[in-house]
Amino acid sequence: MKNFYLETFGCQMNVVDSEQIVDLLQGIGYVQVGSAEEADLVLLNTCSVRDKAERKVYGHLGRFKPVKDQRPELIIGVGGCVAQQEGERMLEKVPYLDLVFGTHNIHKLPQMVEQVEAKRQRSSATEFLDRDTRLHLFPERTRKESVTRFVTVMQGCDNFCSYCIVPHVRGREISRPSSDILAEITALVAQGVKEVTLLGQNVNSYGINDPDEVSFAELLRRVDAIVGLERLRFATSHPKDLTPELIACFGELSKLCRHIHLPVQCGSDRILQLMNRGYTAADYLAKVEQLRAVCPDIRLTTDIIVGFPRETEADFQQTLDLVKAVGYVDAFTFLYSPRIETAAAKMPDMVSGAEKQDRFDRLVALQQQTSEEIWQTDVGTIQDILVEGESKQGQGQLFGRTTWNRIVNFSGPADLVGSVVPLKITRSFRNSHLGELLNRQD
Ligand code: 5AD
Ligand code: SF4
Repeated sequence: MKNFYLETFGCQMNVVDSEQIVDLLQGIGYVQVGSAEEADLVLLNTCSVRDKAERKVYGHLGRFKPVKDQRPELIIGVGGCVAQQEGERMLEKVPYLDLVFGTHNIHKLPQMVEQVEAKRQRSSATEFLDRDTRLHLFPERTRKESVTRFVTVMQGCDNFCSYCIVPHVRGREISRPSSDILAEITALVAQGVKEVTLLGQNVNSYGINDPDEVSFAELLRRVDAIVGLERLRFATSHPKDLTPELIACFGELSKLCRHIHLPVQCGSDRILQLMNRGYTAADYLAKVEQLRAVCPDIRLTTDIIVGFPRETEADFQQTLDLVKAVGYVDAFTFLYSPRIETAAAKMPDMVSGAEKQDRFDRLVALQQQTSEEIWQTDVGTIQDILVEGESKQGQGQLFGRTTWNRIVNFSGPADLVGSVVPLKITRSFRNSHLGELLNRQD
């Protein structure tokens, strides 16, 4: 029996890719274990969206060197976005690395591993595949007991936001046929899945390059109609592709959760243009208003980059103004990090590190206050929770989520897992709520 140890970094796309990696390795007789020390094969599925994420990969690889020094037969491999970006260079940089596989080459992994096992020959595969070849490679994932699942509906990105490495490491947009997506979700529901999140780097451009395919809004309507499914979410949306038809779905579809992650990145039109985002702050705010018109209690989350080249204090103030105007329930805030191959990496007038950090801290403080104010409004209310499993808190506690994607911990019998139950929200903490089951029998 051979063991493998897998670590996953970055976004949900990598999480789904890792599920496929697990399936493929199990297919050639490997068993997943929880530490590198017990493994014959160690893999990192990596992220390169910011410099910090990329450096982390090298840091983690360094941890495995002593293990390899002790057991030279250990195979070490790297996949994902850093692998795609670095390719063979990684083998040169890291002498104890055996294999490098890019974002379009996961299906080759079993063959590559067997090759390294047999010949002890290092190998890399990072070529981008054409559209038709990729369409055949969407995973058939094995059964996994779970209430919620991610389902990839499209991959890649054509937007080329000037700061972003994703189009360079994930390739061009490609949408899966809607018939395959619906068949996969129907099968998942038959296995007990109650909630699906439709996933894509730029999910609401689904089908745009495909004249024969349905629109993303129509795909949502069809998923919403699947009997036995309780909840539906999608991520990540680009504001420029948020069509009136898609906005209307939030008023029409009963299973669509009342939450949207809608990255704004910045509140200054000048910087938004430099970022190549394709909308102004006013366009964005108008869409938020339209969303609230069809779904008054919808909650929004966002991504914001602070310290983009040439961002002035006045530009940053406009970001703060926009954040106040929208009232996000949460925001993922990032210090701008220049990325190889991107247009912004060549832009002059970088904001100084100290200035960037100061703006970042002010934004985080504003957002924390807003988040807490919104979460406090939940206390005392009754919310429907989809129960997902045992809580990390232990002691027989369960956890689930509200429609707004907020985690709620509560005490209750384990047979509630998979059902939607009403809970009274009793307290709000930084990362979760505490709730109480209504009509408890015990
Ligand atoms: N620097 C900082 N943040 C970035 N993001 C993407 N590229 C960069 C970069 N070069 C952020 C964006 C995106 C999120 C996933 O990561 O906000 O929405
Ligand atoms: Fe990157 Fe922009 Fe594509 Fe999002 S839409 S993945 S930020 S290029």
